[in-house]
Amino acid sequence: MIAERRTKIKELLNVSTYGTDVVVKGWVRTFRNNQFIAINDGSTINNIQAVVDYQNTDEALLKRITTGAAIAVKGKLIESTGKGQKVEIKVEQLEILGDSDAEKFPLQPKKHSLEFLREIAHLRFRTNTFNAVFKIRHSLAFAIHKFFNDRGFVYLHTPIITASDAEGAGEMFRVTNLSFDNPPRTENGEVDFKQDFFGKTTNLTVSGQLEAELGAMALGEVYTFGPTFRAENSNTTRHLAEFWMIEPEVAFADLNDNAQLAEDLLKYCINYVITNHPDELEFLKNRLLEEEKQKPMDERSEMDLVSKLNFVASSEFQRLTYTEAIEILKNSAPNKKKKFKYLIENWGADLQSEHERYLVEKHFKKPVILTDYPKEIKAFYMRLNEDGKTVRAMDILFPGIGEIVGGSQREERLENLEQRMRDMHIPAEELYWYLDTRRFGTAPHAGFGLGFERLVLFVTGMTNIRDVIPFPRAPKTAEF
Ligand code: 4AD
Ligand code: MG
Repeated sequence: MIAERRTKIKELLNVSTYGTDVVVKGWVRTFRNNQFIAINDGSTINNIQAVVDYQNTDEALLKRITTGAAIAVKGKLIESTGKGQKVEIKVEQLEILGDSDAEKFPLQPKKHSLEFLREIAHLRFRTNTFNAVFKIRHSLAFAIHKFFNDRGFVYLHTPIITASDAEGAGEMFRVTNLSFDNPPRTENGEVDFKQDFFGKTTNLTVSGQLEAELGAMALGEVYTFGPTFRAENSNTTRHLAEFWMIEPEVAFADLNDNAQLAEDLLKYCINYVITNHPDELEFLKNRLLEEEKQKPMDERSEMDLVSKLNFVASSEFQRLTYTEAIEILKNSAPNKKKKFKYLIENWGADLQSEHERYLVEKHFKKPVILTDYPKEIKAFYMRLNEDGKTVRAMDILFPGIGEIVGGSQREERLENLEQRMRDMHIPAEELYWYLDTRRFGTAPHAGFGLGFERLVLFVTGMTNIRDVIPFPRAPKTAEF
């Protein structure tokens, strides 16, 4: 048995002293010529090569070195003569930790489609693509906490089970422990949720914003970072039913402060990955170039992944109002030539992703911060402008992604807020606690929500949001 402590492959690939004894544990990626084992232990997307002296190794043992098997090897670290690697291990002792039946193991040493890998999400971590994606996802989460911590924000844990609908859009998953076969009923025959676990109807949260606002109105600057749930039946490459959201909320801040905070956060995160993940980005860049070869010329990206990230991290985001955007869209070629699926005819139209992408990818060619939307198409809590028609909303639109951030300056004036809630049929009695912040020491404040998976999607250059969360939840999809 190999009892010594293992060294991670990432470390070994960086050393330049040869001849030391090392132990490596990992999974076999390939085994060639009965001699060369490519081992990966997850610490890096790069494998280390271990060379077996097959003439002096038991045949039965060699047969068990199959793709997917977990092994331990002990041997000398030597300079490699093969190309593409500096070091390799001359194996002295080899142990199979866990066999992998080559006939049944679904991951073969060849390229698999992302669709196929999604079906075996429990094993896709063992590919370079998903190794890189989930390392970057981890680093982005870390960078977000670091960014806010360095600025003195308080990480607030908002509830996952709530009795409210923060967005007022009615896209919630009910949480109950009542029996479906024989639920308690009221006198008029309706299900009696008073007898449910919480004594009322509850659901999974769609956003931690309302609670974050309560925190901000005392702690000053807070942020949430947790899972949120939406029962919207959107089967797209940008939507999940369970996604993670970062929601900062800042007291004494207006929409400009809010936009600046979001721009700073996004750039910080992108730079963090550029600095800390050169290998993963290089790999993902090449993956994307390869993928785009299948597409017609005019659908390929103008920049490769790394250039795109550097470009976004160094360009000033374009700020403009919804009204200005509508003018641009109305006069745009795809609108005039009726190429848009939804033509822009009047002020007040909701922007579809085709419009957002036109603004970002064709017109400005950089990230866009759109502000001051018509109140009819935005949530009840956004601050009404002097014109009485628009609200202090902001959406940040990213190339290839569309909306990545949604936020606003909040309506801090009690009467205005109550009016908006009446207009939009938001039950004010149930949200008495939210309105209390406007009753007791109200103050201007603002915040936004950053969709974490959309950020990961942008930074990794992946094209389907289901490939940047370990186990995606979407309509008819809840495996693993
Ligand atoms: O624009 P949304 O709905 O805004 C809110 O929830 C506000 N309460 C945020 C706030 O002001 N505190 O969602 C915010 C972001 C979107 O811009 C998008 O990036 C992401 O969350 N998002 C989704 N991501 C994946 N799947 C979905 N179904 C998403 N819905 C929203
Ligand atoms: Mg939004």
